[in-house]
Amino acid sequence: MSKHVYIITGASSGLGAALSRLLLSEEILVFSLSRTENKEIQQLAHELKANYHFIAADLTQVERLDATLREIVESFDPSTVETVTLINNAATVNPIKPIQACSPDEIMTSIQLNLTAPILLTSCFIKETANWAAKRSIVNISSGSGQYPARSMSMYCSSKAALNMFTKCVAMEQNKKANPVHVFTIDPGMMNTGMQQLARESDFELSTYFMKQKEEGNLAEPEAVAQNILLELSRLTNRPID
Ligand SMILES: NC(=O)c1ccc[n+]([C@@H]2O[C@H](COP(=O)([O-])OP(=O)(O)OC[C@H]3O[C@@H](n4cnc5c(N)ncnc54)[C@H](OP(=O)(O)O)[C@@H]3O)[C@@H](O)[C@H]2O)c1
Repeated sequence: MSKHVYIITGASSGLGAALSRLLLSEEILVFSLSRTENKEIQQLAHELKANYHFIAADLTQVERLDATLREIVESFDPSTVETVTLINNAATVNPIKPIQACSPDEIMTSIQLNLTAPILLTSCFIKETANWAAKRSIVNISSGSGQYPARSMSMYCSSKAALNMFTKCVAMEQNKKANPVHVFTIDPGMMNTGMQQLARESDFELSTYFMKQKEEGNLAEPEAVAQNILLELSRLTNRPID
């Protein structure tokens, strides 16, 4: 039975895919949630006999999330698990336009994916693992945009700012508990992913800034960022690195 369990949202591409790839092993149980499956990771997992499970989920269908997380945590025996980690990574930078040009659907999708989903998954994770002896952690992937306002990015910036505040509040709720859930945000910095490409190719004033970042080599590769996140996680939770 795996001693370490990771539940990662948005693991089909970018940072989430890089995290999943690094964690592929027989000893680590990985649940990867996204709408589409990353066939290359699935193949690699098969070759390495890794304990990797893809779960097709549209995280904007927020009414399903509680049941999805419950099904995941009920699918293994917690008594043998030493660490269990939820990484809320999935997000969208869309809509990239002034707020009056955003449709109600675009606004709701952004909030559901970037904020409601991580909140619901956090709540359910803490509730469902309440009596576990395992070290429990939640990493909410944040962004510099949660601190710096930008025109045409009001939904992304404000959802990340709210996620930062949510995380601080829950961390306070946990810090007096006997076996607290370690809850924190990590800002991965600018990375060479599909999200960056979308920002570069969108028609708004910051697209030239994002193009310049790519041209000047300022985008980190998601694999390097994923490695640092796992190191940071082990440092913050005092867990051994296998
Ligand atoms: N890239 C950057 O420069 C940068 C900078 C700062 C912070 N971040 C943060 O880092 C995290 C990862 O970003 P990234 O650049 O790796 O993004 P990305 O390459 O665009 O990947 C986004 C992931 O989210 C999933 N996703 C999107 N909509 C979904 C939905 N409705 N339901 C379920 N999954 C969904 C996608 O999978 P499917 O399409 O298969 O569903 C994909 O796996 C995000 O939280 C982002 O805000 C990124």
